[in-house]
Amino acid sequence: MSRLAALVMAALGVAIAGCDQPEMRFQPKYSTYDEAARWPDNQAARQPVAGTVARDQRLEPLARTLPVALDRRLLDRGQERYEIFCSPCHAASGYGNGMVVQRGFPAPPSLHSERLRDAPLRHFVDVITEGFGVMYSYRDRVPMEDRWAIAAYLRALQLSQQIPYDTLSAAQHSRLETDTREAP
Ligand code: HEC
Repeated sequence: MSRLAALVMAALGVAIAGCDQPEMRFQPKYSTYDEAARWPDNQAARQPVAGTVARDQRLEPLARTLPVALDRRLLDRGQERYEIFCSPCHAASGYGNGMVVQRGFPAPPSLHSERLRDAPLRHFVDVITEGFGVMYSYRDRVPMEDRWAIAAYLRALQLSQQIPYDTLSAAQHSRLETDTREAP
């Protein structure tokens, strides 16, 4: 063995032995869920400082009502996104018996209930953003603009099942009365 190699081996030996020193192997530290008497709540896991924001967090306040024009393009986009992200559970019809539910996932409530027909569009946006009960959040898959598009489409879907009679035109009334087809 050359001199140099011997020197390197000796240095490595010292370095490895160094790691074995008790004061290096056992360093005082907290694990995430340890108790920690040094803080008043006795928890090692600390909360972020008040006012901390995530790098990708949007800081403008979230609109309370539809912030974009309600037009055909928006509804088409909403329908497309709904059918991709929501229909696996809520079903294309909104009654809640989608394919994932037929395979055992807890059934969501019907989107045609009186409570959800009365809910503001913002409620749907909040549910998509935050999740709701066992339904997880779609924040990272559905961008904010699409959440509003889906919410607007949900309202159209609700109307498709229960449109108030007096909002229909006279022509539609007479069509309703003469239409003898069975309801599906
Ligand atoms: C994996 C299944 C699943 C998917 C996908 C899903 N949901 Fe849900 N959703 C649920 C379940 C289950 C509930 C009921 C949760 C509970 O009450 O614990 C629910 C509840 C809801 C509610 C009712 C909230 C209330 O006030 O009662 C709305 C509105 C809703 N979902 C909208 C959506 C929209 C919009 C999408 C698509 C972006 C979506 N969901 C995707 C399963 C799903």
